[in-house]
Amino acid sequence: MAKSVTAFTCTACGATHRKWSGRCDACGEWNSIVEEAPLSQGPGRGLGAQRGRLIPLAGLSADEPPPPRLPSGIAELDRVLGGGLVPGSAILVGGDPGIGKSTLMLQAAAAFARAGTRAVYLSGEEAGAQLRMRGQRLGLADAPVRLGTETALRDILTTLDAERPDVAVIDSIQTLWSDTVEAAPGSVGQVRAAAHELVTFAKRTGVAVIIVGHVTKDGQIAGPRVVEHMVDTVLYFEGERGHQFRILRAVKNRFGPSGEIGVFEMTGGGLAEVANPSALFLSERGEPTPGSAVFAGIEGTRPVLTEVQALVAPSTLASPRRTVVGLDGGRVSTILAVLEARCAVPFAGLDVFLNVAGGMRVAEPAADLAIAAALLSAREDHALPAETVFFGEISLSGALRPVAQAENRLKEAQKLGFSRAMLPEVQKVEGMRGIRLSRVADLTSFTGETFGAG
Ligand code: TYD
Ligand code: MG
Repeated sequence: MAKSVTAFTCTACGATHRKWSGRCDACGEWNSIVEEAPLSQGPGRGLGAQRGRLIPLAGLSADEPPPPRLPSGIAELDRVLGGGLVPGSAILVGGDPGIGKSTLMLQAAAAFARAGTRAVYLSGEEAGAQLRMRGQRLGLADAPVRLGTETALRDILTTLDAERPDVAVIDSIQTLWSDTVEAAPGSVGQVRAAAHELVTFAKRTGVAVIIVGHVTKDGQIAGPRVVEHMVDTVLYFEGERGHQFRILRAVKNRFGPSGEIGVFEMTGGGLAEVANPSALFLSERGEPTPGSAVFAGIEGTRPVLTEVQALVAPSTLASPRRTVVGLDGGRVSTILAVLEARCAVPFAGLDVFLNVAGGMRVAEPAADLAIAAALLSAREDHALPAETVFFGEISLSGALRPVAQAENRLKEAQKLGFSRAMLPEVQKVEGMRGIRLSRVADLTSFTGETFGAG
């Protein structure tokens, strides 16, 4: 007889623990651990009743060419998917409540339907009439999408099995309930079971399933991270509520590059594609001001320019503030330490605020030089040279390390009217004309040349 053990599960990341605690060791979230009914463990029976079918690897490509991808026609979405939807794949779209997931998914379903892909949109959050109203407001009234408002998983699977659409959107995973798990909708057990059944259904039938999941701060409801490992593709829809820009980011993709982003703008008529994100992110930039540095970055496969903004002010606090938005706080601390230790530029007694304009998030180490430039410029109250972009990774010794795709960064900068780039001395650059390259060996020489300090 198998022992039934009560499990404690983190609703934020899905980690299981043997006892309750206030903070999850796995993800660091507070008050996210809840007690879950254990999955029933039937008596072990040795071998299973059914024999599975094995297929040769070699035969796959010759006999069955991979099914063609289904493009939505929304270029920003198709890029993030790796060139369109793969039939039979399972895609998770996560994001904060109210960020625009339902809007994007209804627009995507309509776009698929208009492109001849049979699309079904199942909502557990809105009634049919509400969905129609939303569709009308988004100008999608004529799109041949079919809607449903089912939340019982079994009924959803029966419906999808009978209809066999090409793509089904499930909005959201937290509203589904499966009769195999005795727990409320939205609990870790329910969310996992529902996701598992939906993924299995997708693989079995070839219906692409898009699962929407809210990122929650409430410990009782499981977040989308709980099912990340089960699906083929994980997309997060990000953005600041106050800004109209929204970024769809692929954090995992079995069928395309991860890290790819799609940029949208939330308008009165729904989400509009932004074909040239660099121009958008730099649009608020005025005259050169101290503390502003333009970073020539790469997001996924395309170059994107962003503005790093720094403010440095005398602090009244014993341990001064380090407020970082849109950048990795650990990297910023490292750069501050390198500036202090290698370049003799102290930040003690100074509050430091760093931000990426437009609500963009930058995770590349290549942003180090732009961050250092913004910090120094703010500290010296001295604007950086105009029409200049920065990129390069800074090592702990203060030396500048080369980064990938220098030419793509430079071409994008040139396209947006920048005439000069500051980059690592050791960076190889091939075939670039018409943009001045200022080579920097290390942070000390950069500090000295640019600001006459250090
Ligand atoms: P929604 O797609 O419902 O968010 P989610 O499904 O992620 O919870 O989007 C809700 C927000 O989007 C809401 O604050 C209003 C805004 N919005 C617009 O600005 N324009 C529109 O055309 C639509 C449909 C929504
Ligand atoms: Mg919604």
